Amino acid sequence: MDIRKEFLEFFQSKGHDIYDSMSLVPDDPTLLFTNAGMVQFKDVFTGAVPKPHNPKATSCQLCVRAGGKHNDLENVGYTARHHTLFEMLGNFSFGDYFKEDAIAHAWEFVTQNLALPVEKLWVTIHDSDDEAYELWKQHIDSGRIMRFGDKDNFWSMGDTGACGPCSEIFYDQGEEHFNGPEDKMGGEGDRFLEIWNLVFMQYDRDAQGNLNPLPKPSIDTGMGLERVIAIKEGKFNNFDSSMFAPLIKKVEELAGKKTTSETIGSYRVIADHLRAVSFMISHGILFDKEGRGYVLRRILRRAVRHGYLLGFRKPFMAKLVDQLVSMMGGHYTELAEKAEYIKEQITLEEDRFFKTIDSGMSLFNEELKNTKTIFSGEVAFKLYDTFGFPLDLTQDMLRNLNLDVDIDTFDALMSKQKSKAKAAWKGSGDAAASGDFNQLLEKYGKNEFVGYENTSFKTKIVALLDEEFNEVSQLAQGTTGWVMLEQSPFYAQSGGQAGDIGIIEDNSHIAEVLDTQKFFDLNLSKVKVEHNTLDKDEEVVGVVVNRYEIAKHHSATHLLQSALKMVLGDTVSQAGSLNDASRLRFDFTYPKAMSPEQINEVEDLVNSMISRGLSGNVEELPIDEAKQKGAIAMFGEKYGDTVRVVSFNDVSVEFCGGTHVKNSADIGSFFITKESGVSAGVRRIEAVCGLSAINYAKGNIQLLNQVQNEVKNSDPILGITKLKEQIKELKKELQEAQNAVSTPISEELIDGVKVVVDVVQTGDIKKIVDDLKNGNEKVAALLLQAKGDKVLMVAGSKNSNIKAGDWIKNIAPIVGGGGGGRPDFAQAGGKDVTKIEEAKTAALQYAKENI
Ligand code: ALA
Repeated sequence: MDIRKEFLEFFQSKGHDIYDSMSLVPDDPTLLFTNAGMVQFKDVFTGAVPKPHNPKATSCQLCVRAGGKHNDLENVGYTARHHTLFEMLGNFSFGDYFKEDAIAHAWEFVTQNLALPVEKLWVTIHDSDDEAYELWKQHIDSGRIMRFGDKDNFWSMGDTGACGPCSEIFYDQGEEHFNGPEDKMGGEGDRFLEIWNLVFMQYDRDAQGNLNPLPKPSIDTGMGLERVIAIKEGKFNNFDSSMFAPLIKKVEELAGKKTTSETIGSYRVIADHLRAVSFMISHGILFDKEGRGYVLRRILRRAVRHGYLLGFRKPFMAKLVDQLVSMMGGHYTELAEKAEYIKEQITLEEDRFFKTIDSGMSLFNEELKNTKTIFSGEVAFKLYDTFGFPLDLTQDMLRNLNLDVDIDTFDALMSKQKSKAKAAWKGSGDAAASGDFNQLLEKYGKNEFVGYENTSFKTKIVALLDEEFNEVSQLAQGTTGWVMLEQSPFYAQSGGQAGDIGIIEDNSHIAEVLDTQKFFDLNLSKVKVEHNTLDKDEEVVGVVVNRYEIAKHHSATHLLQSALKMVLGDTVSQAGSLNDASRLRFDFTYPKAMSPEQINEVEDLVNSMISRGLSGNVEELPIDEAKQKGAIAMFGEKYGDTVRVVSFNDVSVEFCGGTHVKNSADIGSFFITKESGVSAGVRRIEAVCGLSAINYAKGNIQLLNQVQNEVKNSDPILGITKLKEQIKELKKELQEAQNAVSTPISEELIDGVKVVVDVVQTGDIKKIVDDLKNGNEKVAALLLQAKGDKVLMVAGSKNSNIKAGDWIKNIAPIVGGGGGGRPDFAQAGGKDVTKIEEAKTAALQYAKENI
């Protein structure tokens, strides 16, 4: 049974719309990863965005629980049911049905579709929830309904946001297989397996922890796909199910050994982490020192360390990717599309870690010998800082020994290092680091971007921050800091488009805007104060410069994407982009270098789209309508209910938040300046348009003029051809001259053998010896030549008693060298040019004696 499909179709038949899994990267600073099916609907629950036309939804959502409020990382490999990445089946009601239907639907699916035996099922409810109790009693024996407190039966996505009491369905896997003290209902053991959580969404928790009622009570449910599949396959451990077993088998193959009860945990960790790492990379996360990228690093390094325990000493994880793609790439096409890229990124990171893992392990083991009760925080920090061992990796290594790290010391060292680089929070998605910005948000709310319609706007300074992001009331002349305008015409860098620059002015003061960035929901411009001061609450005018040039490059990027799809095929998908006032860069998936003809064709196509004067349109559309229009979405971006769609007639239709020209003709012209590879499977095009295209063309024309002058010909190709011919001619003359000066060479006849021994100033003595051998029946030749401060010596012999190798061996020491060779040919080098004549005399003497 394809349970994923069965589930979605079941809820579709109950009037739910099916939604795709959203990106693992949520557009929310308080949330590290998409950690539940409800994340793509969280703003619908709270009423922050209008609910969809159909208030019932269902999805199968990829989730990562490896950081933030829901973190299972440390349990993976040690339990039968925890994963860093898993698939959550869910059904959602936005103010439509509530407890009664949620319970009835779940019961129907579990007992009918999955056909799980009723006598194995248990449910839990919040201890205050009598209503749920009454409803469940209609389906299940009341003795199987258990009440628990907030810890077990109150669910929230994060510290803030939608939440509510919940009710969970458990499956009893049988006493005979489990007998630990925790294998009881409500215990930590694996016997009673929670398969489905029904959350009765009733509150929105604010930053102070207050529970504010939601506009309408709603439903959010989540069922673990891996768990249900394992149950249906009769496996007590998810890792034994078809979702993991083939991966574990592949690890066995690579390691060259089977699992044992001691090592099985490591195999499981590797299989689990490979899934998480591959999907995270496919959704655009990169290995990094902070934020999401650091979690990615922690997961991969944890897997590598378990690989190290199994004997791997060089990168191995990428070799598992094809297996994973064959298991999941059909449903999650991004995995298949990015497979090569994923392998490359994984291998690079593994390489980095394998470089330091040996030294780190030695340091760890050394310290372990000195450890009695607690592992040194200083060493843990050194492992982190110097050898790239994340703290939780060190903790994982200590887990079986029942030891822990001296966290206070570790933290102290860490914060000392962090305070050196306070601005390292940027984009980290780390709630603590984003604290400053959350405070600003709470104090002033979001500021509005008014730059789609205006490039100059009169507004007020809401807040000022110094370079370290501390709020100040004034920025003095000459200082640099950040400005929050009430309504900002400055576009904050995002979606590949560079942040706006410009000026902020009024009568008495002026500041240069160096950049504009989005910090969570705040639009802040970086400024340098040129005259007087900038003051909080002042009225000012923000003026954007260069926006038009940026817009040209951004629009050209859209046209380029369409042209690439036309020339290379629809499988081309965007892997990244950058647009600023002077250039654009577009990365896309394609397996090989483009040919010059393809590059030319793409360039021509874009220029024809420009010259046709396609009108640029921007619309806000419901997401489904946008998809119907064929709008290209960038994978890894999260889109709301309504999306901004930018189109140029029907030639290019894309989801985009950026700024664009009103007509493609505004772009002017377009030149591809470079096509290159970024990584396996990803190519990059660099191009210019607008003013930059003019400068580019002018630059090339000037270069051409210079070349014309240099080659003294108005047709530079003709000029260069002539020069090449001249060079050829001169080379020939030179060769002839060299040959001419290298003769005559003294020679004498000894016993019918032509003996040639001489010092030759110029010419190729190897060739002369060859020529002598070719031109004579009996010959013995040894030629010497000074080359700078070295001596070169070549000997040849044909039909004589002299062996060239012995001859050279005998003579070379005179010039401080050595060498030898075959009886018919030999060569040597020497270091003492002053002895060259002496060597010549000795060589002739040798010939006379040995012929
Ligand atoms: N959002 C709920 C959970 O993740 C269903 O358990």
